Amino acid sequence: MFDKIEELLQEVSSFNGTGKDETEQFRLKFNGKKGILNDLFDQFKQVPNEQKKEYGQRINTLKQAVAEKLEALKSASETEGTVAKEDLSRPGFPLEAGTTHPITLVKNKINEIFRSIGFEVAEGPEIEDDWHNFSALNMPEYHPARDMQDTFFIEQNPDVLLRTHTSTVQIRHMEKNEPPIRILAPGRVFRNEAISSRSHCIFHQIEGLYIDENVSFADLKQTIQFFTTELFGKSKIRMRPSYFPFTEPSAEVDVYWGLNSETDYRITKGTGWLEIMGCGMVDPAVLKNVNIDPDKYSGYAFGMGIERIVMLLYQIGDIRMFFENDKRMLDQFRMV
Ligand code: PHE
Repeated sequence: MFDKIEELLQEVSSFNGTGKDETEQFRLKFNGKKGILNDLFDQFKQVPNEQKKEYGQRINTLKQAVAEKLEALKSASETEGTVAKEDLSRPGFPLEAGTTHPITLVKNKINEIFRSIGFEVAEGPEIEDDWHNFSALNMPEYHPARDMQDTFFIEQNPDVLLRTHTSTVQIRHMEKNEPPIRILAPGRVFRNEAISSRSHCIFHQIEGLYIDENVSFADLKQTIQFFTTELFGKSKIRMRPSYFPFTEPSAEVDVYWGLNSETDYRITKGTGWLEIMGCGMVDPAVLKNVNIDPDKYSGYAFGMGIERIVMLLYQIGDIRMFFENDKRMLDQFRMV
């Protein structure tokens, strides 16, 4: 009697029917109303008492094995079915389109604003030489202002470096073009700084340059005011005296952000003012370096960090977020 059950158990585990019919027959044979399992359960009454326990255990094992086998056959046939029905020319899954990176988004916005008043976009290389990054910008060798911008030099050749600002582009452009010049130079810049929530070795700047006859500081102020009104919707600005080797006079621009919310208090440190860029009148020495006559022409330049502007616009607290490419962060700019 037990041998018989053992045999049946073997039969169940080795059954490997592929077709639907075969599986159905197997099901009927074991699980059907007149199937083997019901039969075996019926015989339970006739089993001598001392064997009832073992008998019960064995037929339950068999019942379990049959159920498992049927389950396995069922899921195997289901996957087979889907594979057969699948249209293999369809894409594997819904493909999600990427988003524009917030840096690019804001860079484009700034470009648009200045393009609307006649500025053209100009570009230059990220790997630069000493002349374009320093000397032509009125920072000769050993000029202390060079230390303001921790530079990445190529060890073998100090004349090869990663540009520390986009002011390089104004030199390159002025070398090749005659005034009037009205350019905007967005780009990546590099500084050998410790990375923190506020600073990063790689970031982005936008530089503006306007050279013509009779360009004055008042023109600079008006242009910047137009810019802050367009970008932030804020027209109250102030200029604080500052220093850059390539501009004279130089200024730092603050925009009045207001003190309407807790965030305003936090980001303006309770003053309502936020610093957004550096600027000034192009130093005559710089114009001389690129063969533009400083007696005939004058001009202004300004430069700002794009990350800083994005952080202000969207209340982003950590500059490193721009470089992590975390989809949860980037997805938030889908609708902007
Ligand atoms: N190049 C300056 C900097 O990186 C910014 C600047 C540009 C200041 C143009 C004045 C005029 O700090």
